[in-house]
Order: sequence, then C-alpha cells, then structure tokens
Amino acid sequence: MIIAIDGPSGAGKSTLGRMIARALHLLYIDTGAMYRAAALAVIRAGVSTTDEGAVADVVARADINLAGDPDSLQVMLNGRDVSEEIRTEEVSHSSSVISTIPEVRRTLVNRQREMGNRASGVVLDGRDIGTVVFPQADIKFFLTAATEERAARRYEEERVKERDATFEATLADINTRDRRDSTRDDSPLRIADDAIVIDSTKLSIDEVFERMMAVIRERNMDAREGINS
Ligand code: C5P
Repeated sequence: MIIAIDGPSGAGKSTLGRMIARALHLLYIDTGAMYRAAALAVIRAGVSTTDEGAVADVVARADINLAGDPDSLQVMLNGRDVSEEIRTEEVSHSSSVISTIPEVRRTLVNRQREMGNRASGVVLDGRDIGTVVFPQADIKFFLTAATEERAARRYEEERVKERDATFEATLADINTRDRRDSTRDDSPLRIADDAIVIDSTKLSIDEVFERMMAVIRERNMDAREGINS
C-alpha cells in the first residue's frame, strides 16, 4: 500500500504521516527531510545554491538515508545523523531553493522510489508524491490550512528553539517557500486530480487523523470487496 500526503509548508503532513505509518505499521518517508539533507550537503561543500551544475553533482554524490521508526526517524547524510542540523533556517531556505533544480529532483525522486518500492507498505509526505513520485499511489491526500494558521503552528515550534523567531518572519518564510514550490517548472506543488483534500484550519490533529483513517479504511474495504466479487 502506498499513501501519499502532499501539501504546503506547515499543514501537518509529517505529524500525520508519522501517525498513520505508526497506526498501520508502514514505512514512513519524509521527503522534505531528504531535500533538507541534500541542502546541508551543498552548504557543507561550500557550493552556491545558484550554481545548479555543482549543486546537482553534490546531491548525486551524497548518501541520503532515513533510518528508524516513524517516531524516531533519523535523517542520515553520508552515514551521520543530521536530524537536528537540517532544521535550521539556513537549511530550510537552501532546501527550498535547490528543490527547484530538475537534476536534484531526479536524484531524490529515484531514491524515494527505491525506498518506497522496497517496503511492503509506505507513507510518504512531500509536495509531489501523488503527482510525480508515486502517481499510482493507492490513496492520495492533500493537506492544507489557512496560511496564518500554518504560520502560527510553525511559529509555536520555532520559538522554542530560536529565541529571536517572530510570527511575521515565519509567515514571510512560509509564503516565500510556498510560492517557490507552486511556481517552479519541475514538479510544482499541485493537487493531484484524484487526491482527497483536507483543510485542517479548524480541525485538531486528532480530527484530521480520524478523517484520514476513515478514508483509508473505506478504500481498503472497497478493494477487498472488489477482490471478493
Ligand atoms: O517539508 P519540508 O519543509 O521539510 O521540505 C523542505 C523543502 O523541500 C520545501 O520547502 C520544499 O521546497 C522542498 N520539497 C520539495 N518536494 C518534496 C518535499 C520537499 O520540493 N517532495
């Protein structure tokens, strides 16, 4: 079973992806973490994010892996755990920029397909899962929420780590990254035709989880009835 979760920044994709993977005992792949690890490799190599050829080379040579279960997912770059390091503002910005480079996307999409195909069941979250990475996914969700709400949720997380974080800066960052994701030529963020859209602006995480699980149960039931008839 392949479950795709796409949507803009701060919509709750990774929290819900983890919850669903845990509930159904599936592999969880946070593809945003892979773009972040790629960006960290680029920063460490001292390469400018505008030098597309050099960025693509660094990413092609980087060994990016995800290890552990959904709740303690470790993001590995060249054998080292970089789970913490990829959550800085610098990496967020660079990951958003390098993810517009087609060669970078090709490298990471291939890696995501390899990882997904090896598992018996998988939940992936990102921006292009249902449209590009696994267009044949069994279930596609598109999670969204009002921009202010997404920024408020992000800000709550950020201010714990960064004392000088402000709501305005978080909102501006979300707007910039969303715009870049939605307007890039290669694999822009868009709703797959067969995706189920959930707007979580007025819903709790548990309510969104219940809605998603209801869809999954219903689809599984339909599939089983299809086999039996
Ligand atoms: O989801 P997260 O914010 O961790 O992703 C970091 C960046 O990677 C995003 O801003 C987005 O530009 C990019 N990304 C992408 N395609 C994906 C996942 C993430 O372009 N499937």
